[in-house]
Amino acid sequence: MDKFIINGGKKLIGEVQISGAKNAVLPIMAACILKPATYTIKNVPNLKDTRTMIKLLEESGANVKFDNNILVVDSTQCNNPVAPYDLVKTMRASFYMLGPFIARFGKSTVSLPGGCAWGPRPVDFHIKALKQMGAHVELKEGNILCSGNLKGAEIIFEKKSVGATGNIIMAAVGAEGETIISNASCEPEIEDLCTFISLLGVNIEGIGTDLLKINSSTDSIVKKVDYSIIPDRIEAATFMILAAITNGDIILRNVNINHLDIVISKLKRAGVRIEIVNTNSLRISNSANLSSVDVETREYPGFPTDIQAQWMSLMCLATGTSTIKENIYSDRFTHVAELNRFGADIKVEGDTAHINGVNSFRAAPVMSTDIRASASLILAALSSEGESSISRIYHIDRGYENIERKIAALGGDIKRKK
Ligand code: UD1
Repeated sequence: MDKFIINGGKKLIGEVQISGAKNAVLPIMAACILKPATYTIKNVPNLKDTRTMIKLLEESGANVKFDNNILVVDSTQCNNPVAPYDLVKTMRASFYMLGPFIARFGKSTVSLPGGCAWGPRPVDFHIKALKQMGAHVELKEGNILCSGNLKGAEIIFEKKSVGATGNIIMAAVGAEGETIISNASCEPEIEDLCTFISLLGVNIEGIGTDLLKINSSTDSIVKKVDYSIIPDRIEAATFMILAAITNGDIILRNVNINHLDIVISKLKRAGVRIEIVNTNSLRISNSANLSSVDVETREYPGFPTDIQAQWMSLMCLATGTSTIKENIYSDRFTHVAELNRFGADIKVEGDTAHINGVNSFRAAPVMSTDIRASASLILAALSSEGESSISRIYHIDRGYENIERKIAALGGDIKRKK
């Protein structure tokens, strides 16, 4: 298993190009199944997760080419609505195949999802909504078997779920009549999925809001679709925190500034200087004196749970004490024990972490536990004097494109050891 060896303590300076959003491209790739056509998708990050999604598409019979961040999917010959365990177990987002499979083929077999190792992460909202749309769903030998001709329905999610919203939007494309989704997720990645699906001749009202109305026209024929994925706001926020934690000076290119509102406002409150360079570039600098700022994770436009771990690394080096309340995944704190190895002073009580700021981190050997936890450890290692090692970095390869190359280009000393 690969590990990173990091010699920290340097200010990171320069420019970084932010990649396309992982959490937007994965459902959009699944959505290529919805209509038999050729799809050309640009700004696709080359990640372990996108490569897993390519395998899932190929397994279903699609012809896929991926080169230079451009993905071409020809789904005309798809005929096998099955997502097998060996792929699904490595990536929870494989569950996104369910909606498109049932929409196009009226049946699907999808293994129960695995993915990141914090839990519980159930799929009951997806199943309940599909049943409401007339699907017959059964669990057999670890697979979810779903069949039936779907009918539009009024779905009211008891809690906002990104995955369930995405899956039901895609299922609705194959349903007869209108599907209404109340309490839908408003994440930019869901907005991107809706914009993409609109290009398939599907009418979606309320894009970007928590009330969606989806009307699919069965006679709309699409042959070619061109699309470009939004920038990854989670990767962008990670690099913003990297600039802050190393007291560096970094310009981020290819960002959607609106998607980063909450992160920008929290970083400013912590004393970090942020300038808008132009409509899609930000400069982060001057963070010598960090103040403690509390955060609570929330659905978009609130503070993302996917930035919680990286924010925690930063707050460890801020003056004073702060809290982080995790409202989405109450036990998403596997990085705490590892950050404490760097000399952090963090205690967890229930869903809240209490952080006492320390003057500096000290280098340490640590282990990553999930994608974003890995990012928080890289941040801590880059701000620690001396050599740190981070093992199990296959997690980071799932979600950050060329991370060591991007960090090295900013002057960071990071090496991958096979
Ligand atoms: C997506 C993101 C993930 C992010 C998360 C929350 C992708 C590929 N992954 O994950 O990076 O951390 O949103 O922003 O986009 N829930 C249920 N039953 C369900 C579904 C969800 O109880 O059927 C609960 C979950 O346990 C969790 C909350 O709803 O507490 C939100 O989860 P959800 O938005 O569905 O997360 P994912 O789509 O899996």
